[in-house]
Amino acid sequence: MISEKMSQMLNEQYNKEVYSANLYLSMCSYFLDRDLDGFANYFKVQSQEELLHAEKQFDYIHEVDGKITMMAIDAPPVEFDSIEDCFEQTLAHEKLVTKSIYGLVKQALEEGDFATHTFLQWFITEQVEEEASVKALLMKLRMIGDNSSALYLLNDELLKRQLAPEA
Ligand code: FEO
Repeated sequence: MISEKMSQMLNEQYNKEVYSANLYLSMCSYFLDRDLDGFANYFKVQSQEELLHAEKQFDYIHEVDGKITMMAIDAPPVEFDSIEDCFEQTLAHEKLVTKSIYGLVKQALEEGDFATHTFLQWFITEQVEEEASVKALLMKLRMIGDNSSALYLLNDELLKRQLAPEA
């Protein structure tokens, strides 16, 4: 059984993961409108990963007899300035999610809730990977600049991304 405070914080995290899924699906739509199917695929898979994160948290809250409280989910932006803007917003958003996970870890340690602390380790590793992969793509985009041939090559590369089984 987890504390009410921990349960509430995990519910808030669940909400943030679902918001993340919607944010990345909104970016997917931005790229579909521009016929950049590889970038669209990248963000669709990103969105699917976020739903899996939310599901992991939903299942855990149940497992430890916490209470699920569905909350309203903010609407994500639907307009973006550029491809680079999408990746900059993604990186900024992932940094916020990382901070939020750290807040959960801190709370778990303060409460001596070692089960939740262990559960959260997977998310810490995941955040390191997510931030690193978005940063790497942002660097590539900056190198590409307005070279459309290089941009289409990157688009083709991103078309290959698939949902990882352990996501
Ligand atoms: Fe679920 Fe991208 O953090």
